[in-house]
Amino acid sequence: MSKVTVVGAGNVGATVANVLAHKDIVKDIVLLDIKGDFAKGKALDSWQQAPIDYYSTRITGTDKYKDTKDSDIVVITAGIPRKPGMSRDDLIATNAKIVVSVVKSIMEHSADPIIIIVSNPLDVMTHAAFKASGLKSNKVFGMAGILDTARYRAFLATALDVSPKDIQAVLMGGHGDTMVPLPRYTTVGGIPVTELIDKKKLTAIVNRTKKGGGELVGLMGTSAWYAPGAAAAQMVESIVKDENRIFPVCARLTGQYGLKNIYLGTPVKLGKNGINKIIELKLNAGEKKLLHKSADAVKSVMATFTKMKIK
Ligand code: NAI
Ligand code: 2OP
Repeated sequence: MSKVTVVGAGNVGATVANVLAHKDIVKDIVLLDIKGDFAKGKALDSWQQAPIDYYSTRITGTDKYKDTKDSDIVVITAGIPRKPGMSRDDLIATNAKIVVSVVKSIMEHSADPIIIIVSNPLDVMTHAAFKASGLKSNKVFGMAGILDTARYRAFLATALDVSPKDIQAVLMGGHGDTMVPLPRYTTVGGIPVTELIDKKKLTAIVNRTKKGGGELVGLMGTSAWYAPGAAAAQMVESIVKDENRIFPVCARLTGQYGLKNIYLGTPVKLGKNGINKIIELKLNAGEKKLLHKSADAVKSVMATFTKMKIK
């Protein structure tokens, strides 16, 4: 794996490129943005950080798709972020056209890349990319679960005054307020979280997690980028190193959890072929109900996308 393209050199895209370069695990990163020399500037700044932070990954910026030729992995962050008062779903009118056109341009220059979608509304943009690419679904998936789980883990780390390193958790469903954090699958240093925190506090953390993206939009007037960028870079790392790490990822379900033909957050094994396996948890009735509610929310945004009839 030697070449990674990041499309969209804004807050998230530039962070993905910068964090990935620091890992020093790929030869080339191409940063592409529609805004003239913008990506060139971001890439040059990151490359000038290499002698200070000691990495060899070469980052270049461009506005031309020919420079993305033969990419092994493409991370798509192109599109508008939300402003206060907007939901992620409000972005579909603008971002669906952008994501479809970006994917088509990428496929003209790379035969069989792995595509990771970041643009919102995430689950439906990943579905749009899958359709536009013609790739198999193990090669097209979205980043959201690592970020949402990281928010949940960070809130728990604060509440319990422990290191976030020791908190393991799973979160499922769509990347929206209906997402499903799973306390039953949350441990702190191997100890079930329910033994360490009372139910009321845990419920408050679950609810804060569901609205975690909106909290940041409220604070900054635009959406987050450090944790989202690091999350996408971590997915790239698991693929490049063929680590088979288990992450919550937005993947195309083919019957798991009684759901099919829909992109939704689920734990997967991530390695050199992309998604090596979708892991089907034995959810209880309450958890399954919440997951289906979340799937219904994604389906209604999918219906809007289908009506748009983007060619
Ligand atoms: P930003 O506005 O900082 O950057 C977006 C970049 O995309 C801009 O530089 C813009 O010029 C570029 N762009 C627009 N159309 C393009 C096209 N056709 N081709 C190439 N580049 C194009 O926005 P930010 O904060 O980086 O967010 C990007 C997207 O990621 C948003 O849709 C946001 O909602 C989403 N997001 C998703 C997260 C997730 O968990 N999945 C987390 C954070 C953001
Ligand atoms: C987030 O959750 C905006 O989806 C983005 O921060």
